[in-house]
Amino acid sequence: EQAEIGLIGLGTMGSNLALNIAEKGHRIAVFNRTTSRTDAFKANAGELSDRIVPCHSLQELAAAIRPPRPVIIMVLAGTPVDEQIAQLREVLSANDIIIDAGNANFRDTIRRFKELESTGLTFIGMGVSGGEEGARHGPSIMVGGTEESYNRVEKVLTAISAKYKGEACSAWLGTDGAGHFVKTIHNGIEYADMQMIAEIYGVLRDGLGLNPKEIAPVFDTWNTGRLNSYLIEITAKVLNADDPKTGKPVVEIILDRAGQKGTGKWSVIEAQQLGIPATAIEAAVAARVLSSLKTEREAAEKAYGDLGLGRISGDKDALLADLELALFAGKVAAYAQGFAVMSGASQQFGWDLPMPTIAKIWRAGCIIRSQFLDTIAEAFSAEDNVANLLMTPAFIAMMKEAHPALRRVVARAAEAGLPVPALSSALAYFDAYRQGRGTSNLIQAQRDFFGAHGFERIDAEGAFHGPWGSNG
Ligand code: 6PG
Repeated sequence: EQAEIGLIGLGTMGSNLALNIAEKGHRIAVFNRTTSRTDAFKANAGELSDRIVPCHSLQELAAAIRPPRPVIIMVLAGTPVDEQIAQLREVLSANDIIIDAGNANFRDTIRRFKELESTGLTFIGMGVSGGEEGARHGPSIMVGGTEESYNRVEKVLTAISAKYKGEACSAWLGTDGAGHFVKTIHNGIEYADMQMIAEIYGVLRDGLGLNPKEIAPVFDTWNTGRLNSYLIEITAKVLNADDPKTGKPVVEIILDRAGQKGTGKWSVIEAQQLGIPATAIEAAVAARVLSSLKTEREAAEKAYGDLGLGRISGDKDALLADLELALFAGKVAAYAQGFAVMSGASQQFGWDLPMPTIAKIWRAGCIIRSQFLDTIAEAFSAEDNVANLLMTPAFIAMMKEAHPALRRVVARAAEAGLPVPALSSALAYFDAYRQGRGTSNLIQAQRDFFGAHGFERIDAEGAFHGPWGSNG
């Protein structure tokens, strides 16, 4: 019996995805460059091994799958994907589908989609979120390619995806790079979420002097309220964990230098290219970069000393309530920005991205999964052409309630010298966004003054210059 689908690349994500597919009843042919890994994979697959067909060459892989063949590739993003596609082209035939399930840059996906179009092969760029656990038991799946090609693999993808109250977290989002673009923005939002949580942790640790064991229950409690989400849940777990070697809380022995593989940065680059402000995401990416300057930061701490800034004092319960609401308000701004970037890209790249669907397939399986995404899905479903999440009635009400807490937290953190870059960017974005008359009239005047760039008037049509005399 031939396999229904193939998978190349048995790393952590690839192996888990393959097991997930097999578990849902699909026969799957697998290939890994290192042959021993392919054999070990089958040998360790337990009762699922019957449905796994190990292949030692791409020719074998192609022969093992029933045409038209869907083949998932899960290799490192970048050149390895191009190499893999080139090799696959030799063994596949018309109507076969190559599915790149890695964290590709969507611009590469658009290029690959076009390159393959003329060959008769179809290319799908598929964003997969949920880490190792998600891949194994149900990820969120964001698909870009032709709708027809999605229909051909929909059954398998729906079967392996996470379910939110029975609804599959897998969807076709648009042509060529749409899926990978949406996954990129998912990660940008993930960066902002994680950064804002870390900022709140910083206020609790350095502003209130709490230890990890005291902070963990705070997040646990929040996880039962409006912040209910996977990231809040794991934050509490992380804070509760001890290092087996030293017996200390593990979070205290981890170096404060964050890694990043690129998707957060791509979100920011694309936001800039599209001219859509995504300040909370930008702040989160910059914070990771700054975190990596460990030696410089240590030198600066010595050079500046403690500056005589005190801790945060006052009623602890009131402060905790503010922190919860501030984190929520910051999250609203970050998600509003992420969705705004997606709607800008949707127009730019002709994708017609379905915002309610995106919010829906993020409700389970992915790293940013939360109750909050259900609220976003509702807001997007309630009206067409939402310019910005901040303009939907539900979110206007939420921000009216939550912004005072965000203000107080940002102000108190600033006074105590605690960095809260993502939260303060979120606040500044909110304040600038809701200001009908801003301050760029002055910028226009300056531009005209030094470069005769001209400006528009509030009381007449056309382009004007100011009375700057010989300077203007
Ligand atoms: C997910 C994650 C996953 C991974 C990224 C982000 O949705 O499952 O986003 O794709 O964690 O690689 O990673 P970095 O923090 O390393 O950039």
